[in-house]
Amino acid sequence: MTLVHGGQLQQVALQYARPIAEWLDLSTGISPTSYPIPSIPTSVWQQLPQPSQSLITAAKHYYGTDNIVATSGSQAVIKQLPSIFKQHVAEQLISEQSTGTSTVWLPLVGYKEHERAWREQGFTIQQYTQLPTSAQLTANCIVVVINPNNPTGELFTRNTLLALLDNIQTLKGWLILDEAFMDVVEPSQSIISHTDNPHLLVLRSVGKFFGLAGIRLGFLSAHPQWLQALEKLSSPWEVNGPAQYITEIALMDRQWQQQQLLSLTALSATLELLLMTTFDCPVAGSALFKTIRLDNAPEVYILLCQQGVYVRLCDEQNALRFGIPDQNGLVKLAKVLQQLAK
Ligand SMILES: Cc1ncc(COP(=O)(O)O)c(C=O)c1O
Repeated sequence: MTLVHGGQLQQVALQYARPIAEWLDLSTGISPTSYPIPSIPTSVWQQLPQPSQSLITAAKHYYGTDNIVATSGSQAVIKQLPSIFKQHVAEQLISEQSTGTSTVWLPLVGYKEHERAWREQGFTIQQYTQLPTSAQLTANCIVVVINPNNPTGELFTRNTLLALLDNIQTLKGWLILDEAFMDVVEPSQSIISHTDNPHLLVLRSVGKFFGLAGIRLGFLSAHPQWLQALEKLSSPWEVNGPAQYITEIALMDRQWQQQQLLSLTALSATLELLLMTTFDCPVAGSALFKTIRLDNAPEVYILLCQQGVYVRLCDEQNALRFGIPDQNGLVKLAKVLQQLAK
């Protein structure tokens, strides 16, 4: 099964017979401004990549946790988690003589690779719109939360998640938190600093906020037992050297991060206003994307494509998600939306 996530500009450009350079690509939640790539020593290209301790030190500071490893994108961890649970947890359950099989709770609307990964490994799936209640949770359950959610933008507070973690821990289950878009949430609602608790695993992505999705770097923060389990499944040299080099510098560059946050906040506020006035509907999302629910979302998606604006038609076909345009992109989008409104 191939899932569509946006970011397929080549295909869409062919379909609508418009050269790639003429498109405004708002189909992802990746920042339009990327961290400037520093000059990279030849040795970093030439050598096999070692896990970089200085990258991990930078990550510990930036994310605020001691339990963290670098991965080749958070997607790589999403794919591997079910195998880790199968191998590792099965042993634990047998040794505790537990009969429980894990049910995985997933958001009904949200980044679908989570669901795909658990389903492919034969886990029982339950879907939620509100977080599952304590009455619904069972022994050894796994609850996946995307916070803030992509594409709905729904954000759970730290207190809500810590209460959920408490319940899950009592049931000897696990909370898996995907914080791929957390960097733009102020004040942060991340609970990554709680990953000493073996019932919590947190994923972070470098692709979105730093606008570096192409280098494929992310992090898993969890109790060392989980980090070791992930390491056992990984092959050598999985996280490439240039990506580690760039990310270390980006994570330490507080000044750029502050500027980036200000700029994304301003651009996303302008986008929100533009969408609200054009479509006369509430706008959800975060400072990395904005989502509107529309009954005629598929038609509007096509109309936008015909004008060279590529957005994300959400899986449920009832919403459009707009990535954040830069200043030039906002001008183009405003013109196109004006045309549509006529
Ligand atoms: C919620 C969420 N988590 C994780 C990912 C994977 O991101 P990456 O592998 O680039 O870190 C995505 C990608 O779109 C996402 O939307």
